[in-house]
Amino acid sequence: MSAFDIKGGLSLRGDIKIQGSKNAALPILAAAVLNRGITKIYNCPLILDIYNMIIILEAMGCGVSVDGHCVTVDATGPITGIISKENAEKMRSSVILLGAVLGRSNSAYIAWPGGCSIGERPVNMHLDALEQMNVQFSPEDGCIRCETSELIGNEIKLPYPSVGATENVILAAVLAKGTTTLYNAAKEPEIVDLCLFLNEMGAEIHGMGTTMITILGVKSLMDISYTVMNDRIVAGTYLMAAAATCGDVQIYDVQERDMKSTLEVLAHMGCGIVIRPNKIRVVAPTVILPVEGIRTEPFPGFPTDMQSQMMSVLCLASGKSVIYEEIFEDRFKIAAELEKMGADIRIEENKAIIQGKCKLQGTTIYAKDLRGGAALIIAGLMAEGDTKVKDTVYVERGYENICMDLAQLGADIKCCLNNQAWHE
Ligand code: EPU
Repeated sequence: MSAFDIKGGLSLRGDIKIQGSKNAALPILAAAVLNRGITKIYNCPLILDIYNMIIILEAMGCGVSVDGHCVTVDATGPITGIISKENAEKMRSSVILLGAVLGRSNSAYIAWPGGCSIGERPVNMHLDALEQMNVQFSPEDGCIRCETSELIGNEIKLPYPSVGATENVILAAVLAKGTTTLYNAAKEPEIVDLCLFLNEMGAEIHGMGTTMITILGVKSLMDISYTVMNDRIVAGTYLMAAAATCGDVQIYDVQERDMKSTLEVLAHMGCGIVIRPNKIRVVAPTVILPVEGIRTEPFPGFPTDMQSQMMSVLCLASGKSVIYEEIFEDRFKIAAELEKMGADIRIEENKAIIQGKCKLQGTTIYAKDLRGGAALIIAGLMAEGDTKVKDTVYVERGYENICMDLAQLGADIKCCLNNQAWHE
């Protein structure tokens, strides 16, 4: 079984470049389907979710080639719009292909993505919004059949600023007839990146990064090359690892404005934060201070994707911390693994109470989801002795080379990926 082997107790120090963003690259790859031509996407992270997206695009009839971090999508030919159960199960975010496929052809048939390890994750908001754009849905044996005579722009209000539903509406609206106005839209930087990509292709999108996005339908798009933004969650993970290990780490090419809430929490913990153009440096304090009442929220609030990593660090804090998980109901699974290492965490529904001041002890623990897996690696880095984090496959879904990156910063970490090769 795949595992990360970590000898704890070393401080992370140095500079590190951050990979391309998973959650920006995925919808941008989906968006490439809208262009009856060739799209070059640079800075794609080489991770499992991207490979799975490529498999789905190929199964739909796109030609895809990968050269380093550049993925070229040739969507000149016909697109099938069918996403099989096998492919939908590999990657829950296959649902973001729906808007793009409907923008290209008038029908889609996709397997129900279903719940996943961090929560039930329904898709009702995606379907309700697309219905308002003249799409009809019929459930069929674990799949959704989607038909439209023509996509028509509309005024749509999301009940909650869902990232995926916002992306689907944008993707469907780009080539739709008329104007779509989306209210209560998600404001995440990855959505802004998707819109910048689409506008470069010839789309007319305004207001991205605000709660109201307007999309004027256009007739067609054009071939472009685009560089995906860097990954603010990977960046935040490494900065939390610096805080956890009495470290001093500087990251490159990630925007401070995209990371404000994470940096605020690090500052509350007592970290020194130095911002320079295109660089963010975090210097850990000798004692981590507790944080009380942090809630996960849509951007610009504290990201749910950083909650687990923060939980690991707070096990070290000099007192009681309280975290509320407001977005995904199953994102406290790491608490049980951290307890195996000696942490004192009490879970009360969506509230986690962490009594700090404990030195974690290395042991064997299991990753159960992507960000939780990264958080357990952080726990291993700050623990006494040896830690084995098993089931690395979750972490591989989102981190291109977490082992090499952390080793470059001075960690003693080795990775055995699916029994194939050892990397340092
Ligand atoms: N929701 C519904 N109905 C819907 C859609 C969402 O009830 O139709 C609920 C979800 O169950 C959840 C909340 O709304 O409770 C927020 O979900 P959202 O749609 O915003 O999330 P997502 O689009 O499924 C993306 C990221 C996640 C990230 C969330 C929140 C991608 C591919 N995924 O998911 O990333 O946690 O936004 O920021 O962009 C990760 O990278 O580890 C990850 C899980």
